[in-house]
Amino acid sequence: MMKLIKANDYNDLSRKAANILSAQVILKPRSVLGLATGSSPIGVYKQLIEWYQKNDIDFSEVTTVNLDEYVGLAPENPQSYRYFMNHHFFNHINIDKTKTHVPNGIADDLEKECEAYNHLLDEVDGIDMQLLGIGLNGHIGFNEPDGEFEKLTHVVNLNASTIEANKRFFEKIEDVPKSAISMGIKSIMQAKHIVLIVSGQEKYDILKQSLFGPVTPHVPGSILQLHSHLTVIYSCDREL
Ligand code: GLP
Repeated sequence: MMKLIKANDYNDLSRKAANILSAQVILKPRSVLGLATGSSPIGVYKQLIEWYQKNDIDFSEVTTVNLDEYVGLAPENPQSYRYFMNHHFFNHINIDKTKTHVPNGIADDLEKECEAYNHLLDEVDGIDMQLLGIGLNGHIGFNEPDGEFEKLTHVVNLNASTIEANKRFFEKIEDVPKSAISMGIKSIMQAKHIVLIVSGQEKYDILKQSLFGPVTPHVPGSILQLHSHLTVIYSCDREL
């Protein structure tokens, strides 16, 4: 089932998505949440923090698994996704940090790290709700357009267009890592409920292609059409 919700603007989108995530945690305090980085979810985290401060949500039993991390960036590097998650979310709520998981981008053996992350995903016994954004080229997590879908956690070389899109977070383009660790398509698709948030007119075409075009690894987000419980919240000027 695909549910499309059009939001009025970024703020509305953030509140709607936060409402769905908070309902998930209220209904199941021991939820496993799949979380994302990028500019899209920042408003969602901000809203959830506000509700936490009002005592509306309790994160003490929640486990989180993040989609991805840059290779070579340590957790204390402000550009790393671990830092992002602490800074934008975890530091401000009552989550047990040992239950928050982000791939380790500075692992000595990256292949082993991927295996360990897959093992962790098995151990937590499935993601209850996955918050997801989409890249301009259709990537989800860091699953870049390719000849086939990568099923499990893997090391990926980032596309030139992704490096270009993400350079806004760095001082200069040379600072953007060239590779990342990303959860695979199978792990994402096994989430019980996926909440895709898409904001901005520039994402309109890729969103439309993902949801209504052919399912192909050249548009990784297109696989979401096959998910049994997908909620899409979007704020673009036009209706889909
Ligand atoms: C980044 C992340 C993705 C994110 C996407 C969109 O590279 N790895 O998880 O969904 O690109 O980012 P934004 O929300 O900033 O447009």
